[in-house]
Amino acid sequence: MTYTVTLLPGDGIGKEVMTSAVQVMHAAAKKVKVTIQVVEKLIGGASIDQFGVPLTEDTLETCRRSDAVLLGAVGGPKWEKLEHQRKPEAGLLKIRKALELFANLRPAQIYPGFLQASSIKEEILDGTDFIVVRELTGGLYFGEPRGYDQDKGWNTMIYTRPEVERIARMAFQMARQRKHKLISVDKANVLECSQFWRSVVEEVHQDFPDVELKHLYVDNAAMQIVRDPRQFDIILTSNLFGDILSDIAGIITGSLGMLPSASLGIKYALFEPVHGSAPDISGQNIANPIAMISSVGMMYNYAWKLPQVAELIESAIRRTLAAGYRTKDIYTTGDTLVSTTKMTEIILKNMEQS
Ligand code: IPM
Ligand code: MN
Repeated sequence: MTYTVTLLPGDGIGKEVMTSAVQVMHAAAKKVKVTIQVVEKLIGGASIDQFGVPLTEDTLETCRRSDAVLLGAVGGPKWEKLEHQRKPEAGLLKIRKALELFANLRPAQIYPGFLQASSIKEEILDGTDFIVVRELTGGLYFGEPRGYDQDKGWNTMIYTRPEVERIARMAFQMARQRKHKLISVDKANVLECSQFWRSVVEEVHQDFPDVELKHLYVDNAAMQIVRDPRQFDIILTSNLFGDILSDIAGIITGSLGMLPSASLGIKYALFEPVHGSAPDISGQNIANPIAMISSVGMMYNYAWKLPQVAELIESAIRRTLAAGYRTKDIYTTGDTLVSTTKMTEIILKNMEQS
């Protein structure tokens, strides 16, 4: 089998962790005898510097022609003052929309040795394992009208029936493969858009009577994730709420540097870490490559249906962490502090040995 992957390292630590990810991707490919061809393109600030826009048609076309897209991170202080449409982040939103990546999966699970490191008490956290299924191409992020002038700023939260149906269907299907439990998060006590979301989710539920459905308001959900994270299995939610809840999920399970994600549509798939470009630490070889490497695992699993490769990568990560290796963001006294490249090396070695 030969697959093509478009690499979009982006900005800041995106480039560093991409280098790690590519090594792991090829090492895994060798093990299962697939060949991967890569094409590298610009996105975000890097693309602005070169072409004046955060995402070019050429980059998009390349993504459309490939079997999967791997993305690092975008953004940085250099481009913060640009108008909205020209910011690096606009490139990210544009690629999600253009490739119709409507489902963003963000798994929150605990790696060995992280129970003690979390801001949450061990006995509350132990056994936490859930996935945030975030709608990614609609809602407040894309609704029109939007804008601001001297006196006001405005955005529109809007969801259509097909948009809610397809993400809900995917979430229910995932719930079926896990614990048959789905919690849909909204703000139906205040927002009409959420009321609509809730009613469509209930309709879709009729096709999945074997899955238990509950609804939570987003403020309560944020609190519950911290209070009792084990009650969650699949969290289904809208674009904005999913953005916020997945950061909370990331931090209680260790560091944002550990959280991978998959963005899926009908035709295309993109994989990226949940963390950003971290300009404050970029160029120092200290960034945590695990979220990016774990995103490669998700690529094998979701884009190519090779869960055994995802497991190979995940188990190498687990063994590396269990042996006490830590990048700076997750380091505590007694651990072995390692650089981005060293962490990658050890993960690669652990992959070889399995
Ligand atoms: C994320 C990020 C993005 C988002 C930004 C960078 C546009 O925070 O992927 O969670 O808000 O979706
Ligand atoms: Mn975010």
